[in-house]
Amino acid sequence: MSTKAIVLAAGRGTRMKSDLAKVLHRVAGRSLLEWCLTTLQPLDLDEVVVVVGHQAADVAADLPEGAIATVQEPQLGTADAARVGLEALDPEEEGTVLVLPGDMPLLETSTFRLLLTAHHDAGAAASVLSARVDDPTGYGRVVRSAGEVVAIVEHRDADDDQLAINEVNTSVYAFDVARLRDAISQVRADNSQSEYYLTDVIGLLAESGERIVAVTVADASDAAGVNSHGQLAAVAAVLRRRINESWMAEGVWMLDPDRVYIDVGVAVDAGARIYPNVYLEGTTTVGAEANIGPDVHARDSTIAAGATVRYAVLDAAAVGVDATVGPFSYLRPGATLGERSKAGAYVEIKNSIVGDGSKVPHLSYVGDATIGEGSNLGAGTVTVNYDGFAKHRTTIGDRVRIGSDTMLIAPVTIGDDAYTGAGSVISSDVAPGALAIERSPQKEVPGYADRRKDRAQESGT
Ligand code: UD1
Ligand code: CA
Repeated sequence: MSTKAIVLAAGRGTRMKSDLAKVLHRVAGRSLLEWCLTTLQPLDLDEVVVVVGHQAADVAADLPEGAIATVQEPQLGTADAARVGLEALDPEEEGTVLVLPGDMPLLETSTFRLLLTAHHDAGAAASVLSARVDDPTGYGRVVRSAGEVVAIVEHRDADDDQLAINEVNTSVYAFDVARLRDAISQVRADNSQSEYYLTDVIGLLAESGERIVAVTVADASDAAGVNSHGQLAAVAAVLRRRINESWMAEGVWMLDPDRVYIDVGVAVDAGARIYPNVYLEGTTTVGAEANIGPDVHARDSTIAAGATVRYAVLDAAAVGVDATVGPFSYLRPGATLGERSKAGAYVEIKNSIVGDGSKVPHLSYVGDATIGEGSNLGAGTVTVNYDGFAKHRTTIGDRVRIGSDTMLIAPVTIGDDAYTGAGSVISSDVAPGALAIERSPQKEVPGYADRRKDRAQESGT
């Protein structure tokens, strides 16, 4: 028999006060909805339907392959959303359907497995994932009679006895598809919010003598949903801790894991050392024995083994084996640093190759350049790559010595073993082994200071 899932994600998410649909808010490299769908993946479900409504097109566009979006408009409550989800499934289909909200990123696959197993073992019509909480305010209460689940009552519709119940509905369920379809058709919106409550299905099924199971989640905090930016930050902290703990278990050293921010798509090799305030995002990879941080923001970048990167921003950049970056370096897309190379203090590099062992140690801008091996760019070197209309390339050979404060007016080529004099504006190619110097002769005016003083006294100032 098949098992499918309906993910409820049509709600407005009013408390986020955001133009972005709630489930599209990102945490550690995935949207809330992606976290949810990724957790379902190992279950190998036959079909996953996502019920969208608010900002439907944006949410539908974010779905991974295999998940189908179906639109609920208007949004009349969770039972109505589940009904819309069921309509997107094959109407003849029997089997089990998981129903869950798209805003609970902390739930783990094992919890869904437990729920499904309990559901099937009991031959239940419906199974609900419940949580025992200290403060049940706002949640639907799981009402039992002689130990059996007989209803779920929403907070606003609960009486005093029911309000005292601390076993709450997480909004995650497993249902027998046919019996869910039948019960949903009987749900009425006769409650304080005039909404169709999916929770009413539990009472309806129990009344008709069906078996209802409640599985209590081991750690109630895993059932946290996201309704506000405060809750988004809280789940982010938990996911971050999980990610960092898994890397530490793999042999990554972290001075203070509470201040390391690693996206889920990042890979870090054993033996890497990560200092505080490090952000590794997107598809970033870090090699063994690399030292990262403090204060590094790397996105979609490759940092090879043994590299040292401190106080730096890396955006789609590649740092070679044993290379050094920082402090205060900015590597922009296409910056590719070879082995043992260096991008030092106040250096910006974009769309450039810095060959093995080459160094750009201080105060430089290198854009659209190819630098060979073992070359050195003196302090203040600038590749003047933009003429106001187009970008041009600078090519620097092997073992070149670019003097401090050289302006390299691209397109320009500096041959192997060549030198440029400090302060030169180089606008023509330099032959291999040559020295190019572009400087006006120094003029000296002797006795200048005394004569200036005399002039000042004469004019009485
Ligand atoms: C729901 C449960 C409550 C449970 C709580 C756990 C109901 C009636 N109540 O309340 O028992 O304790 O979750 O957090 O189900 N949605 C739609 N379409 C709609 C309405 C909602 O897709 O028309 C989606 C929302 O986007 C959200 C989920 O359903 O992902 C839950 O809806 P929400 O209105 O937040 O339910 P709660 O009031 O929190
Ligand atoms: Ca993030």
